[in-house]
Amino acid sequence: MKDRFLRACRREPVDVTPVWFMRQAGRYMPEYRALREKHSLLDLCKNPELALTVTMQPLRLGVDAAILFADILLPLDPMGASFEFAKGEGPVIHEPIATREQIDKLRVIDPDESLGYVMSAIRLIKREVDVPLIGFAGGPFTLASYLIEGGKSANFAKTKKLMFGAPDAWRALMETLTEVVRLYLRAQVVAGVDAVQLFDSWVGDLAPADYVEYVQPYARRILRDLETTGVPVIHFGTGTATLLEAMRDAGGTVLGVDWCTPIESAWERVGYDRAVQGNMDPCALLTTRPIAVKHAQRVLDAAAGRPGHIFNLGHGILPETPVDHVRAVVDHVHAAGAS
Ligand code: CP3
Repeated sequence: MKDRFLRACRREPVDVTPVWFMRQAGRYMPEYRALREKHSLLDLCKNPELALTVTMQPLRLGVDAAILFADILLPLDPMGASFEFAKGEGPVIHEPIATREQIDKLRVIDPDESLGYVMSAIRLIKREVDVPLIGFAGGPFTLASYLIEGGKSANFAKTKKLMFGAPDAWRALMETLTEVVRLYLRAQVVAGVDAVQLFDSWVGDLAPADYVEYVQPYARRILRDLETTGVPVIHFGTGTATLLEAMRDAGGTVLGVDWCTPIESAWERVGYDRAVQGNMDPCALLTTRPIAVKHAQRVLDAAAGRPGHIFNLGHGILPETPVDHVRAVVDHVHAAGAS
């Protein structure tokens, strides 16, 4: 297996900086769009052969890691909160969580049973792919926000109303989500993933004191438990300029950094005993190849050749991104030598 990505996660020396992209499989690729004409998003996730095909699609760009094709919302359905991906709207939870009674009805699932198709996909991908495979799950705040808001949200008003106004109910919900995510990620490691990423994508909407009070204890429980498996654990969020130290204290061996915090200051703040991943602005990929490459070089310059940098964007690839710009950035990062 090509292990440059795993070596960088462990802050070991590498020949060149490893690179992969959040949302590297998806609508910006013509071969993904072609498959989506025939299959729904959930079909792609639930059929291991199709999940393998989609997971492999971006590998032609020369990235140093594969990320399992799945979605952070998959555990919600067996927990008792059914949802769909509505066309053009993103996820829609059929009965958003509003009461303590609904929270108490949510089930802690056995991931090998309820999400066995994910484990089958992992085993299949591991047989076919020669780069490390990253498994993932949603973070407890991000999953709670979908459950409570019923879909995407601009200000997380309902989520925060419950969190601030009914802290016992919030804690009960977080306990259940924490246990589900912990068991789900552990099952992925047993099935064969080489690293895991916790996508707590929306925690950046919280003030630091609220993150520490209402989210950090749960993120910590998940991250610390996963660290004992020995695989690298990536802790990711966006809008996290004021949260980096608190996220570091929650755990994870690699911290994901969005594009608003320069990676050199993020690294200094979290400490050089962690690896860092990020942090190019995904919108820079929309422009031209030279401009995309210039932004990539800026991240490489800021990382300054320190061991433990994994090149990535600050968030996922946007659907309107030209594939050849992504390819140009991969080639540039590799040509630029070790960071
Ligand atoms: O390539 C990869 O990164 C692996 C696959 C992956 C998907 N979703 C597939 C997907 C991963 C890692 C995710 C994570 C995910 N899903 C997150 C956290 C990461 C982030 O971007 O912050 C969140 C918040 C979700 C929930 C979700 N899934 C939303 C809000 C949406 C709709 C928004 C959109 O882009 O349309 C999805 C749909 C989804 N999940 C797509 C893909 C490829 C869109 C594709 C489609 O309709 O075919």
